[in-house]
Amino acid sequence: MTITRRGLLRSTGLLAGGTVLSADGVGATPSPAKVVDGPEPADVFDYEQLAPGYMTAMAWEYAAGGAADELTLRWNRESYERMRLRPRVLVDVSQLDTRLTLFGRELPHPILLAPTAYHKLAHAEGEVATAKGAGAAGATFVLSTSATATIEEVAQAATQPLWFQLYVQPDREFTRALVRRAEAAGYRALVVTVDTPVLGPRYRETRAKFTLPPGVERANLRGLNTATGGHRPGEASIYSALLDPRLTWKEIEWLRGETRLPVLLKGILTAEDAARAVEVGAAGIIVSNHGGRNLDTVPATIDALPEVVARAGGRVPVLVDGGIRRGTDILKAIATGATAVLIGRPYVYGLAVGGADGVARVVNILRREFEMAMALTGRTSLSQIDSTVLWR
Ligand code: FNR
Ligand code: LAC
Repeated sequence: MTITRRGLLRSTGLLAGGTVLSADGVGATPSPAKVVDGPEPADVFDYEQLAPGYMTAMAWEYAAGGAADELTLRWNRESYERMRLRPRVLVDVSQLDTRLTLFGRELPHPILLAPTAYHKLAHAEGEVATAKGAGAAGATFVLSTSATATIEEVAQAATQPLWFQLYVQPDREFTRALVRRAEAAGYRALVVTVDTPVLGPRYRETRAKFTLPPGVERANLRGLNTATGGHRPGEASIYSALLDPRLTWKEIEWLRGETRLPVLLKGILTAEDAARAVEVGAAGIIVSNHGGRNLDTVPATIDALPEVVARAGGRVPVLVDGGIRRGTDILKAIATGATAVLIGRPYVYGLAVGGADGVARVVNILRREFEMAMALTGRTSLSQIDSTVLWR
């Protein structure tokens, strides 16, 4: 007999029983302080198992789901699982240094929070709680354009650097105003998402009838016509009022002229686009497939990373996200040339289960696992984590 992870959690009392909210998604802001009956979640998979008990079914499907057959979503994990490590022994690992410098600032560790939309679907305090949790764990938080708290509210709550993720709006004046607000509120970088001229087909969202419940709004897009995107079957158009299908390299150059903040491009998977990104003056590249949510059957990000790193040639930092669930995944990403990593779903699940504390705990779990992986492979600083730590 095989025992499923879920069954195991339930039998140990880790999975809170009877707390699943109504499936209709109405009144979707979950109660903030539900007590987990049993031991603390130990790893990020425990959070993943617990999270559906703290969210509406609709919000869960939105967060967990991917595009189409969810092949890329799966590959993001499988590629890390396939990689083997090559440990060195008898190295003094009593002092580990996980610091790095990014855009002139020192970060205590290489784990950032990727931009994810609609945190009030996971927790009543939304992105404000996320910023507090990020602050407690020394993590830079990238706030989404589609956040449910304002740029300014989040800045107020933050104790660590914030970056702002920009969905360039078809309305350029509105886009410029967003950039000005992020600058004024002290955000330190702009992350332009370039892999989403339209969304992909997300059938779990479709089946769950995903929609924003009353009281949950795109707080930074007030004043825009924010009609739901048309990516669902049967809808007339694949375009969304919030995403610009006309976005090209020209707009990236325009944006570079608009701001003194470093501009990173998020969603690059190929050497060709990496070269172009460096040419137009991007300050950094984030290798991402949007967590398998847009174009299904693109490769895992860890498999796309080498060609992007090679073409970037050390001229700009290359970050990566997608499928990072273990400290060893972070080690593998850095060994493949990433400067740092971002996590998406894991901290959203932490937020759902435990608010700011849950976010901080998820980061701390991964940081601790990463330190263990460094010690156990005999690497004491990020600069020592190179391709020789991978078993070829
Ligand atoms: C996202 N992602 C995303 N990206 C972005 O640029 N702007 C956004 O608003 C969102 N929104 C969003 C919502 C949710 C619920 C998820 C799960 C993801 C993509 C995100 O930044 C990141 O690329 C992936 O989440 C990374 O993969 P993992 O860590 O979730 O596997
Ligand atoms: C998503 C969009 C909002 O992935 O980026 O859901």
